[in-house]
Amino acid sequence: MSVHAAWLPAESFVALGSRRVLVHGDGVDAVLDEVTRACARHGGRVRRSPCGDADVDLVLALRQAVPLPVPAAQAARQAAGEPPGDEGFVLTRSGDVTVLLADTPTGLLYGLFHLVRLGAAAFAADRPTRRHRPALRRRMLDHWDNVSVHPVMGQVERGYAGGSIFWRDGAARHDLARIREYGRLLAAVGINAISVNNVNVGPVEARLLTDRLDDVAEIADVLRPYGIRVHLSVTFAAPVVLGGLSSADPRDEQVRAWWATTTRQVYERIGDFGGYVVKADSEGQPGPFSYGRSHADGANLLAEALAPHGGVVHWRAFVYNHHQDWRDRSTDRARAAYDHFVPLDGDLRTNVVLQVKHGPVDFQPREPVSPVLAAMPATRLAMELQVTQEYTGQQRHVCYLGPWWSELLGFRPWQTPERTVADVVTELVAVANVGDDPFWCGHPLAQANLYAFGRLAWDPRLDPTAVLDEWIDLTFPPGSTGDSGRVRATLHAIMDDSWRTYERYTAPLGVGFMVDPLRHHYGPNVDGYEYSRWGTYHFADRDGVGVDRTRATGTGYAGQYPPGWAQVYESLADCPDELLLFFHHVPYDHVLHSGSTVIQHIYDTHFTGVAQVETMRERWRQLAGLLDQALFERVAERLDEQVRSATEWRDQINTYFFRKSGVPDAHGRPIH
Ligand code: GCU
Repeated sequence: MSVHAAWLPAESFVALGSRRVLVHGDGVDAVLDEVTRACARHGGRVRRSPCGDADVDLVLALRQAVPLPVPAAQAARQAAGEPPGDEGFVLTRSGDVTVLLADTPTGLLYGLFHLVRLGAAAFAADRPTRRHRPALRRRMLDHWDNVSVHPVMGQVERGYAGGSIFWRDGAARHDLARIREYGRLLAAVGINAISVNNVNVGPVEARLLTDRLDDVAEIADVLRPYGIRVHLSVTFAAPVVLGGLSSADPRDEQVRAWWATTTRQVYERIGDFGGYVVKADSEGQPGPFSYGRSHADGANLLAEALAPHGGVVHWRAFVYNHHQDWRDRSTDRARAAYDHFVPLDGDLRTNVVLQVKHGPVDFQPREPVSPVLAAMPATRLAMELQVTQEYTGQQRHVCYLGPWWSELLGFRPWQTPERTVADVVTELVAVANVGDDPFWCGHPLAQANLYAFGRLAWDPRLDPTAVLDEWIDLTFPPGSTGDSGRVRATLHAIMDDSWRTYERYTAPLGVGFMVDPLRHHYGPNVDGYEYSRWGTYHFADRDGVGVDRTRATGTGYAGQYPPGWAQVYESLADCPDELLLFFHHVPYDHVLHSGSTVIQHIYDTHFTGVAQVETMRERWRQLAGLLDQALFERVAERLDEQVRSATEWRDQINTYFFRKSGVPDAHGRPIH
């Protein structure tokens, strides 16, 4: 089958493509290409300035270009006021002409996709002039794609959508048409940066920086017209493994010279190269600790090499001891990022972006917001999300993550109304979820997560349900379905609350990590990590469960927050239910704010969660005959698996806690 059009099917361009359009300005080929295709398909007409024909419905223009032939557009240009900036655009409509103005081709392209979202509404009533700009300057996807197939992790680490769209079996795929389509999809949601290889950098991947740079340049060339800059994950040991030096010590002059020269060569080949992504001293990756140096030394070394060319280094804060002794109750993985990085605040160069996972542990479906985000005012920060659903159902489960990300972005670290996480970070980065699957993401409904990531990075205040609505509108436009109202209502009923449903049938109350290590984090295994070296424990015994992270009696992690939250999390009485077991070890009969006991909550949520998944499946089945058959069947198959897997989660979790606690379910439902 051909590749699914995702949120850019031809039908979504009807309103735009049936108009008389004037495109004005130089270097706007991507815009022109979109408009030309849309008009050819839907009966509109496209003119390119200079052109005497002023009879148009839509003008797409660069502001600085020579005078516009259309009086309405000329007037809009004069009235536009403050410049929209590098990526922004101005939209207005009066006198039957819609006018879109931007300062750059990328801004104009973003504006064009905004028009696609608006559909017919863009050509209805008059619109006051409005400026649109992204809230965050970089909106980035990290591909964890390997060039060579890794013996354990495969072609794409934590990839659930087939192979990589960039690499196959040790080489570049050169499937430029697919990469171009990807660029379109990403531009349509405002993503402006990607890194093209895994943060765990193997020997073949390391060479992308040097003798395999042409492969990276090829991707950059295809994505450039879509406003996307390409970044590379590099190994900190590159001067040794590629340069033949005896050390990668950041204070060694030869090492600094090697990075400077190598980086200059990268920019000679890719003039707008974005920069480096580095996972150092983390899960076995090399880093500055080997030389007795700090992460500031390490990050600044690369930043210094990138600075003359305008590049940045994304230095990941995901640093912890992955050889922990489970007997040692004082070491707490959740503390690690803060303990390592907060003392370095102010020491990192301005072109270092510290990339911090949203929670202190590892992309669990529920974690508190990382306290690092509130503790480094003198550092550029990016929050890292995981669009690939490693811990949220691996694109076999429906789990729309927009509401979760929206909660994270809206979290107020100081409890004051003014500053949310979205105000603190300058960037949003996410681990990508696409592969060479015809539906891009394996699960067609997982496309909504990629869509929502881009949209929330552009404007973190968007309502995630409204974002889902946009996605539904674009992906399933009227005409492509038998009954668009019903499709919309059903998708909302299935997806709106699907993250919370997932949370209900998996690990309870924020305790996390009850996943199966052998099946790569898919499915339940309550004690799978309990006696391991990874630092992710739940400490369930016959009396209770949870991790004591208080200052008073636990690991002290709660004290890493600004005082308000530190107090809330410290206090058993105030800690929010959904994070209770993340912060406290409590007896099974502890009463939650909801009025239920912990043990009864576990039973109830697990029974409810599975019932909800069964309802999702029923709802989907009712859409039979209304949708593209291949898409319908793909989702139907995955929902069968979701029901199976959720049932397994329910039965293992409930049985485990029943056997530990001996407390029966108040409602006498089957527990094994
Ligand atoms: C998780 C994931 C790894 C990944 C790591 C990271 O632990 O399971 O596959 O390498 O995160 O973020 O670097």
